[in-house]
Amino acid sequence: MRRGKRVVARASRSCVSTGTNIAVQKCTGETPVPLTFQLVLAARSAIQVTVNSPFRIGVLGSGQGSNFVAIADAIADGKIPAEIAIVLSDVEHAGILAHSRERKIPVQFVPPGKFRTKLDEEAEQSFVTALQNARVDLIVLAGFMRVLKGDFLRAFDGRIVNIHPSLLPSFPGLEGWKQALDYGVKVAGCTVHFVDAGVDSGAIIGQQTVPVRDDDTAETLHARIHAAEHELYPKCVAAIARGEISTHGRRVVWK
Ligand code: GRF
Repeated sequence: MRRGKRVVARASRSCVSTGTNIAVQKCTGETPVPLTFQLVLAARSAIQVTVNSPFRIGVLGSGQGSNFVAIADAIADGKIPAEIAIVLSDVEHAGILAHSRERKIPVQFVPPGKFRTKLDEEAEQSFVTALQNARVDLIVLAGFMRVLKGDFLRAFDGRIVNIHPSLLPSFPGLEGWKQALDYGVKVAGCTVHFVDAGVDSGAIIGQQTVPVRDDDTAETLHARIHAAEHELYPKCVAAIARGEISTHGRRVVWK
């Protein structure tokens, strides 16, 4: 994935005359350049680099937000070179919003509209606007329980990731851990993947396995998978923020 770097003009290329009486030096031989103006340009450029360089993440969640916490903690520990610019939820009292407020991260509740499993047009636009205003480089879905549709996907093409509680492509959709247990698999796990127009069908970034034990219930297996998610998701987000992965069709390659 290409990181959304902003282009910053280099002061040393500038060659401007202001007509003031301050000290000037030659730029490329012809035009006199006020020295202080050059210094101002250089200082501005340095400031822009500082302000714009952190990789900016927008998080969407509907639930308790334990994956958000794992990612926020990894950022605080210096394991992910990024900052969380905004957290959005379609659920007004979602735990993820409380966790974000505790960490002084900007949050926004966006009423989802009349549908149960997707956003209505107005809500979708509100999400897109909030994320664009926050200038996010990557959108991290952390338990966001609505399917994202065309306009949203087009606005952030290739820049949305999700975590799913099964080893995809097995058991997409709801309660992947329960599907796995009912099927009788001996190994389960979780998957971080890019989001495309299908359900849990985008290119796979990373997977982590857990054993399925004979005495597992849906709850015990879910807890084991959840713990694996908290290890896998920060690692994948860190790799993306560092520009350490590239995509080749469906194949995501780690450098
Ligand atoms: C996780 O199990 C994740 O796989 C699924 O939603 C759940 C979110 O949990 N997409 P949390 O809100 O991060 O605790």
